[in-house]
Amino acid sequence: MSVGRDLTRAGLSQLVSRSIDVINTHQSPSGAYPACPAFSAYSGYSWLRDGAFIAEGMSRNGQADGPTAFHAWSARVVGARAGQVASLAGRAARGEAVSPAEMLPTRFTLDGQDGTDDWWDHQLDGYGAWMWALAEHVARHGADVPGAEQAVRVATRYLTAFWDRPCYDWWEEHVEQRHVSTLGAIHAGLRAAISLGVLDSSSAEAAAEAVQGIGALVEAEGIAPVEGPGIAPAKDTRQRHLTKWLGTEAVDASLLACVHPFGLYPPGHPVAAATVAEVERRLAREGGVHRYLADTFYGGGRWVLLSGFLGLNHARAGRTGEAGRYLEWMAGQANAQGELPEQVSTLLLAPERREEWVERWGPVATPLLWSHGMYLMLADELGVKP
Ligand code: BGC
Repeated sequence: MSVGRDLTRAGLSQLVSRSIDVINTHQSPSGAYPACPAFSAYSGYSWLRDGAFIAEGMSRNGQADGPTAFHAWSARVVGARAGQVASLAGRAARGEAVSPAEMLPTRFTLDGQDGTDDWWDHQLDGYGAWMWALAEHVARHGADVPGAEQAVRVATRYLTAFWDRPCYDWWEEHVEQRHVSTLGAIHAGLRAAISLGVLDSSSAEAAAEAVQGIGALVEAEGIAPVEGPGIAPAKDTRQRHLTKWLGTEAVDASLLACVHPFGLYPPGHPVAAATVAEVERRLAREGGVHRYLADTFYGGGRWVLLSGFLGLNHARAGRTGEAGRYLEWMAGQANAQGELPEQVSTLLLAPERREEWVERWGPVATPLLWSHGMYLMLADELGVKP
């Protein structure tokens, strides 16, 4: 069977069914979505960031129960850390130092514990992405998610206290920076928390202030003029794009999420249009999308899930033909079992750095459930049904 390589409408639709099946098969009885069941470094762990997009892909494709179980698991995990959040937020409010090592984890074991392996913990985006996906799922399916109200209050308290601090980014790097895609996820998550209507008035006010603060900070420090060969330096927002972190000119493909689905700069805004265009110009190659130009992880290949974000953004801007080509490229990367990898090892940015990762962690993570989640989101956007 070669589910993913048939790029006809029927083949694309077969990979939708297969993606739903892969995700359902591997979802833990606890509700957690493992990032990749077979990959040594990820096995036994669930990330809120991956899980949010996996749940959204499933939710968009008529699946209510699996995402509800994931959101209930997340609510238990976050809710159980209410005391830790109260203590951290209290210390921060008193001006005491709080180190990254003391913050909430980035990933949890499938039964919801902190892991015991060393990891690049302290990433704020997952808490925002989770609340965004929860609100989408609740609005779409009217789902009743046990524990969600309390957990949303806890995550909101955490993010309103710490949104303006540096942390590791989506790729678990550069803990010293403030990353624009992290800020975009927090912005979306806090807006979602407000929209869910479960915050008391002072928390809702704090969340609204943080949303406003993020917008102002990114506008002031997270945007750079579009420049490059043959492109004149820009003086107005029609030619300015979001940046990888505050104060740089580099881009990162995770910025696509700041346009759609997070809406920090909604599709149609000049900064949004320039960001999508710059990410595509600098990072997309033949349908696949690199994370950022200096990437060396497994040699710096093209990530299947990022083609999903780029395709979604083309679709939202009305360019459905281009969106469809990204969906086809994603489907073309499936293996004979219809499983999608994390990244593709052709057209590497740093080929000499690939082998060291293969030796350390084994072949590229496959199936990566987040890749399947993004395939599901883009397929649904384009009306490709199971
Ligand atoms: C990526 C993260 C991802 C994790 C699990 C890491 O290699 O950098 O973005 O959350 O894998 O899929």
